[in-house]
Amino acid sequence: MKPDINNLSRDTIVEFIGSIFDRRGDEEYLGEPVNMGQHMLQGATIAEQNDQPEEIIVGALLHDIGHFTSEFGTFTMDDTEDRHHEDAGAEVLERFFPSVITDCVRYHVAAKRYLCATRPEYFRRLSDASVHSLNLQGGPMDAKEVAVFEQNENLEQIIAVRYLDDAGKRPDMVTPDFWHFAPMVQRMVDRHCTTQT
Ligand SMILES: [Fe+2]
Repeated sequence: MKPDINNLSRDTIVEFIGSIFDRRGDEEYLGEPVNMGQHMLQGATIAEQNDQPEEIIVGALLHDIGHFTSEFGTFTMDDTEDRHHEDAGAEVLERFFPSVITDCVRYHVAAKRYLCATRPEYFRRLSDASVHSLNLQGGPMDAKEVAVFEQNENLEQIIAVRYLDDAGKRPDMVTPDFWHFAPMVQRMVDRHCTTQT
């Protein structure tokens, strides 16, 4: 059953996200040799193996959650344009997670455009599918866009999650499942909700 996003709470959001991983993690990640669940779990696992802070691990774990936004019932027949998955994901998460997490989700596509503009070696490492989507996403940022992007107070974390996004495409990597990360996801929710009340 798909609960209404409005009925989710601080106490149920983590379990709900976990159920999305369990039920839909095996969906195809277009053009990549891993499925969606593996892709996000790989990014989080690589971050954990490299002793990254929890906000980076959780950001990587959730960065593509917007691919499953139909789960949250946020699409309506009144929508007049396609919702980009990065925006949809951030919208769903912002009630429950600190801005550092939602920024990592919201700007992971922009970060690719940023890195392509500022680090030539980055572009050369992109997968074919990622180069293809880069073109659909507007290509590398221009100088003005770069300057605006660099104003984001979470720039460092956004870039870190972007690199994990690119790294999480290994067909043979073994990872823990979502529930291994659930306690730290809950800590992020608690951090946000505690400062809100
Ligand atoms: Fe991704």
